[in-house]
Amino acid sequence: MLTTRQATLEDLGAITEIYNEAVLKTVATFDTELKTLEEQRIWFANHVPKYPILVAERDGLIVGWASLSMWSDRRAYSDTAKISLYVKEEHQGKGIGRKLLEAIIQEGQKTGLHTVIARIAEGSEASIHLCESVGFEHIGIMKEVGRKFGKLLDVHLMQKIYNNPVASRNTT
Ligand SMILES: CC(C)(COP(=O)(O)OP(=O)(O)OC[C@H]1O[C@@H](n2cnc3c(N)ncnc32)[C@H](O)[C@@H]1OP(=O)(O)O)[C@@H](O)C(=O)NCCC(=O)NCCS
Repeated sequence: MLTTRQATLEDLGAITEIYNEAVLKTVATFDTELKTLEEQRIWFANHVPKYPILVAERDGLIVGWASLSMWSDRRAYSDTAKISLYVKEEHQGKGIGRKLLEAIIQEGQKTGLHTVIARIAEGSEASIHLCESVGFEHIGIMKEVGRKFGKLLDVHLMQKIYNNPVASRNTT
């Protein structure tokens, strides 16, 4: 059975392993060097409580994770998050990404975020499709901003604004 839940520090090893697999094999992240557990502990500490991290667990194994991270440390951006979503390679294509995405979007609404931004490298059609399906809109393309595996890459920017934007626009 597949469940999603809040990540704990005990999950950090599995989260890091899944992320590092993507660092080595994909353009989903523009990191090119593996993350250490020490770096990841700082990343984890920067999340709670407003910026959630969820894991997907199947039969006791962490098979994917999703997070909403601070977009910027400049305080005016504090209700804006960037999304990350990773599923272990051999478990992809089985609905886990969708389940995690839907859960993390709900979680962001609960923690009071106003908007979420996705940065998706060109060619990542499944990610674009998934984001569109939960209400993200295309807001632009950053041209040739990354180079990985010897190729210059565009990045698609997508954004979801939680409901009631007019009322919250006037909130100070
Ligand atoms: C992107 C990723 C998270 C998706 O997770 P997943 O568990 O494989 O995704 P799911 O099986 O839940 O769903 C994939 C969806 O994309 C669709 N899809 C797959 N390939 C597609 C393609 N080439 N074009 C359009 N849609 C595609 C599937 O039909 C499915 O849509 P549906 O739910 O409407 O049927 C996963 O592939 C991954 O970890 N990739 C590497 C890291 C990454 O790219 N992360 C995103 C960075 S923002």
